[in-house]
Amino acid sequence: MPSARPDVMDKLVSLCKRHGFIFQSSEIYGGTGSVWDYGPLGVELKRNIKDHWWRAMVRSRDDIEGLDAAILMHPRVWEASGHVAGFTDPLVDCKTCKGRFRADALESARCPQKPSKRPGEWEACDLTAPRQFNLMFKTFMGPVEESASVVYLRPETAQGIYVNFLNVQQSTRQKIPFGIAQIGKAFRNEITPGNFIFRTREFEQMEMQFFVAPGTDMDWFERWKADRMAWHLSLGLDPDRLRYHEHTREELAHYARAAYDVQFDFGGSLGFQEIEGVHNRGDFDLTRHQEFSGKKLEYFDQPTNRRYVPCVVETSVGADRATLAVLVNSYREETVEGEAEGRTVLGLHPALAPTKAGVFPLVKKDGMPEFATALAADLRARFTVFYDESGSIGRRYRRQDEVGTPFCITVDGQSAADQTVTIRERDSLRQERVSATAVGEYVLARVRP
Ligand code: GAP
Repeated sequence: MPSARPDVMDKLVSLCKRHGFIFQSSEIYGGTGSVWDYGPLGVELKRNIKDHWWRAMVRSRDDIEGLDAAILMHPRVWEASGHVAGFTDPLVDCKTCKGRFRADALESARCPQKPSKRPGEWEACDLTAPRQFNLMFKTFMGPVEESASVVYLRPETAQGIYVNFLNVQQSTRQKIPFGIAQIGKAFRNEITPGNFIFRTREFEQMEMQFFVAPGTDMDWFERWKADRMAWHLSLGLDPDRLRYHEHTREELAHYARAAYDVQFDFGGSLGFQEIEGVHNRGDFDLTRHQEFSGKKLEYFDQPTNRRYVPCVVETSVGADRATLAVLVNSYREETVEGEAEGRTVLGLHPALAPTKAGVFPLVKKDGMPEFATALAADLRARFTVFYDESGSIGRRYRRQDEVGTPFCITVDGQSAADQTVTIRERDSLRQERVSATAVGEYVLARVRP
């Protein structure tokens, strides 16, 4: 469903490249399809989002433990999980234009030969019957390429958590209900990736599996649904751009009893799309792993003297997709009162901004660069700082606005005399004079998560 909000994707892709947020993978070789590299500012932004998640889900709670499971797992894991048999998309080929499409998403697909045609209009061309295409990347472990050595790149991080359920529970002596969380790479050989970092073949997930007693799963499902929406709001996402989408029976994944997506309005033709899935997976995964491994994955509940296979409520958000939502949400172009030229701003939440402060000498003389360099070095021990002495001060401010830096600190003619500097705030454009020794605390107090 197209959105009433403008499409800023092309402008964002160009801003991200220009300022070192995101580059196309292997660009000098013509690029790799739908794979992206995070540059100096992008890696900071994505890391801040991941840290924000880790703090909310692991560090600030006593009922969730962290984990970092390996990407490569025993191939039987993916048989047990249902991915070998069921993690497929229906693929159709067009005999005329040679394009490949998902049969279940034809209405939004564009003909590669006639991209000007509206989605769906090219359907008359000659499509093959749908074939099921497995989205897992296959590779070989060890030096022999034979079927016995096939391994998969994981398509979700969740399975690493299920197979470690008892390891974590027994080593931490957690009692149900409790959760296990991890952040890590996942890989899917998507038929129709695209929309920048929205759907890629290599991406990062931030997943949490919450183990609960059977019968309490729907309650926990509702609680996590609300908690996760609150987290997205804490990123600074506009509440009007967020909504839930409940999965219909047809939409439910093979493991899910019930599911909600948290959707964000990306604007333009993309519109509202999933950024996170909250799933009630019941006891599907642990029961299947018991069956396939022959090992019991039961929990012993001392107070009731009962043994059972726990149910799982999962929260699963893409780190890249959350990063894209944050970028789209924060991008704005505006006019500035009294100035002929407008400005482009990334109005990022200060806690997420890759650079917290720009430090500038007003001019390159009278000891100002020395003062500013020393100040920047001092501040760098506490948060990320960018020092810049080239070009007009207005241009230096604009550059920092475009990359979302919340504060710009300028050393001027008065600084050496009274040890003060000015601090300019990105959104309000307000400037304040502050003692140079107080600048660190001033900024820290405003950029803390
Ligand atoms: N373990 C459950 C699971 O993987 P999912 O709905 O398939 O559920 C969860 O994926 C989240 O992972 C999505 O909401 C999205 O943010 C992210 N994601 C999935 N496929 C992706 C892709 N190809 N590119 C980028 N992010 C993706």
